[in-house]
Amino acid sequence: MKFFIDTANLDEIKKAASFGFLDGVTTNPSLMAKEGLSRQDDHIKAICALTPGPVSAEVLATETEAMIKEGRHLASLAPNVAVKLPLTMEGLAATGVLAGDGIRVNLTLVFSPLQALLAAKAGAAFVSPFVGRLDDVGHDGLELVEEIITIYGNYNFGTEIIVASIRSPQHVLRSAILGADIATIPYKVIQQLAGHPLTDRGVADFLADHAKVADK
Ligand code: E4P
Repeated sequence: MKFFIDTANLDEIKKAASFGFLDGVTTNPSLMAKEGLSRQDDHIKAICALTPGPVSAEVLATETEAMIKEGRHLASLAPNVAVKLPLTMEGLAATGVLAGDGIRVNLTLVFSPLQALLAAKAGAAFVSPFVGRLDDVGHDGLELVEEIITIYGNYNFGTEIIVASIRSPQHVLRSAILGADIATIPYKVIQQLAGHPLTDRGVADFLADHAKVADK
């Protein structure tokens, strides 16, 4: 299972890389805005220099021709850019063209298994089902991931599933049990994955026991 970090914050990306298991990065316009950025070119280049893995950079255009133009531009910024497009009819049409250029496309804002089926047929390298946003409206987001895994397995599609909109360690755990290819995880949740109160207590106990004999 690959771990991407879902952020546009350079410090968070550097810290995640230092843990040794950073396989890629996903950004979106909201994450860019959180960093105070309206133009993303230099920032995307900076992120791409921090990891050899795919870095998803999202287009702002909503019409096919404009998406293709913006996608080609984003892909020219660094060899590891993956162009992120919304799963709309326009996005699907742009995916075929960009994939034909050899550009990896991540189809995002996916909320149904049929959207994911279309993503694979369009030639997307990645598909991003948003589990947290589905949970927010009373669905089980991980059920969507399970359905996509079944459909892709039925036809041996090569499109990799990025579980997105992750809010908790449970989302990561269930994604791993299902066998999802990738989880894109906010930094806060990456920290939660490692933490356990019994680990903290165990370290404290070991140090306390050692201190009792340290001077002897
Ligand atoms: C994925 O690529 C998106 O950037 C992200 O996971 C969206 O998450 P959110 O629903 O927390 O905004």
